[in-house]
Amino acid sequence: MATRMKLKLKTVFVLYFMVSLMGLIYALMQLGQRCDCAEHDMPKDRTISRLRGELHRLQEQMRKAEPTKPPQKLAVKPSQPTIYVITPTYTRFVQKAELTRLAQTFLHVPQLHWILVEDSPHKTPLVSGFLASSGLAYTHLHTPTPRDRKLQEGDPSWLKPRGAEQRNEGLRWLREDRRGQPGADTQLGVVYFADDDNTYSLKLFEEMRGTQRVSVWPVGLVGGMRYERPVVEAGKVVRFHTGWRPSRPFPLDMAGFAVSLKLVIANQDACFDGDAPMGFLESSFLQGLVTMDELEPKAENCTKVLVWHTRTEKPKMKREEALQKQGLGSDTAVEV
Ligand SMILES: *[C@@H]1O[C@H](CO)[C@@H](O)[C@H](O)[C@H]1NC(C)=O
Repeated sequence: MATRMKLKLKTVFVLYFMVSLMGLIYALMQLGQRCDCAEHDMPKDRTISRLRGELHRLQEQMRKAEPTKPPQKLAVKPSQPTIYVITPTYTRFVQKAELTRLAQTFLHVPQLHWILVEDSPHKTPLVSGFLASSGLAYTHLHTPTPRDRKLQEGDPSWLKPRGAEQRNEGLRWLREDRRGQPGADTQLGVVYFADDDNTYSLKLFEEMRGTQRVSVWPVGLVGGMRYERPVVEAGKVVRFHTGWRPSRPFPLDMAGFAVSLKLVIANQDACFDGDAPMGFLESSFLQGLVTMDELEPKAENCTKVLVWHTRTEKPKMKREEALQKQGLGSDTAVEV
């Protein structure tokens, strides 16, 4: 009995020893085996080397493309015509909001020079500060509208043409600024009159950049219609789609045309007539410059609307006024 017990114990001990030994050997083998791990890492290695190859290929491509790419993007730009945008503006609650919207559109347009003309006897600090931090190339002008031409409180906005003096001031600056420059009469440039409340597609500016004399296109949400536009047949403007007095020489909205700088310089007297009857302001400027036959239709033969004659609602100030009476009005030091 005792011998059998001893034998069994011995067997158990030997078994235990052997199992431990086998375990140790297995563990040692695992340590030494590299191919096992390599198998795991292979896809990773393959990915890394594939990416390395791709990187190299892309670097090669970039090196090859570099001598041709920058000339396309950088060297052509300075020679493309500058767009001079003339914008009349006047002090009101929404002024800074409108100018912000406009400036942020213009920031996306290459080779643009903004001529902002205040309807004011002096430059206002709001507009001066705004322009200085706008990041745009600009010229800040001002000229007040004579009192007899100004709209009175409560007058409908269409009663008298607005912004005529300011647009003329912009034209005066353009002509004077060019005068001293060499080759002024051959200078490439386009002049566009952009009111501060309209909405402009970036595509519009590339359409107008090639203007030779006067280019035209549709304007959306204007004149009580979905759009107004020149009607184009065989590439020529033959009449105008408008709901009101189509017999006007140029029944176009201010936002619906651009003029080449050359034409503006060559016709020193062309300007807006602030006394023109309602709807004739655009015609008063264009009449001496161009004929209908010469108009250059843009925006796919005037089939695309790229500018909208939007109107911003006048904010109500009832509560502000009520609080002011109690001496609790908003801080006037905060610019809005
Ligand atoms: C404009 O119309 C003319 C004449 O019909 C045509 O040759 C030309 O391709 C049109 N242009 C565009 C951009 O649709």
